[in-house]
Amino acid sequence: MYDIPTPTSVAVWFHNCKTAFFFFSSLKNLHKNLEQKLAEFHEREDCILYASCFDANAGLFEVLLGPDDAVLSDELNHASIIDGIRLCRAKRLRYKHMDLSDLEVKLKEAQSSRMRLVVTDGVFSMDGDVAPLRGICDLAEQYGAMVFIDECHATGFLGPRGRGTDELLGVTDRVQIVNSTLGKALGGAAGGYTVGPKPLIDLLRQRSRPYLFSNALPPAVVGCATRAVELLLASNEIAQSMTAKTMRFRNKMTQAGFTIAGSSHPICPVMLGDARLASLMADDMLKHGIYVIGFSYPVVPKGKARIRVQISAAHTDDDIDHCVDAFIQTGRKHGVIS
Ligand SMILES: Cc1ncc(COP(=O)(O)O)c(C=O)c1O
Repeated sequence: MYDIPTPTSVAVWFHNCKTAFFFFSSLKNLHKNLEQKLAEFHEREDCILYASCFDANAGLFEVLLGPDDAVLSDELNHASIIDGIRLCRAKRLRYKHMDLSDLEVKLKEAQSSRMRLVVTDGVFSMDGDVAPLRGICDLAEQYGAMVFIDECHATGFLGPRGRGTDELLGVTDRVQIVNSTLGKALGGAAGGYTVGPKPLIDLLRQRSRPYLFSNALPPAVVGCATRAVELLLASNEIAQSMTAKTMRFRNKMTQAGFTIAGSSHPICPVMLGDARLASLMADDMLKHGIYVIGFSYPVVPKGKARIRVQISAAHTDDDIDHCVDAFIQTGRKHGVIS
């Protein structure tokens, strides 16, 4: 039934055990290593990984805020932030989109609360508009509030070193908590995280439900994301290349007669207005080898349908020119430009 061990088979078995030991001992630190690198990247004390940023947003507010606290949230914040806030029992105050006067009114209203947290996307994904973080931090300091930003549309490419909106606007040390994703600029597979003060991260490890009651990120995803962060930590070149690529696309499209919302973000919404037109044009772009998606109501307001183009550091100038040419041809076909 059993093979009789020979010196060779014992040696092979011993070698395999050693390999497995080294494999598992390096896996043991894989997640902690990425958490440390992300904390270093964002210049915060500590980091906790989640399976997604949706989970990071779902797991934060309930732990941090109780019924005696208040949360002040931009009305156009991402759905995952809205859901995360729904799970906590704090007083909820929604301020008008990027409106500092309205935020001040709401901060005054929340003065009797024990703790106040201002919550905003760093960049709002549908229009690529950047939150007025300097004004938000000024008001937060004036009215004794903390600031949280969701950096899914900023991490890895916004700011001189790609650190995000807080770096771009010079407020890194004035924003206390950052959530972001590994699923966009940092590799595109999956994963999310919170960075912030160490006591907060320690608390999340004990209490945050999506962290406690769900699987950890698969090691292969952690490995890919770690390499992406290492590349960004080693050089600013990738982050800085984004500005030139983005402006190439935006300028050429504007010259061709298209309307591109926002000013400089790599999310370039090609505004078309009509939902059917956006969908037909996106289908035609695919025939030119360009994969873009038409967005319409309810994802964006009625009458503001668009094709959302996202520029990547991996695009070459030729890729960008090919994309613009495809837009010109399909735009002429559908009467969007002459
Ligand atoms: C602003 C914002 N926050 C959170 C998320 C969720 O990120 P993830 O895909 O990692 O769950 C997204 C994803 O689209 C997003 O745009």
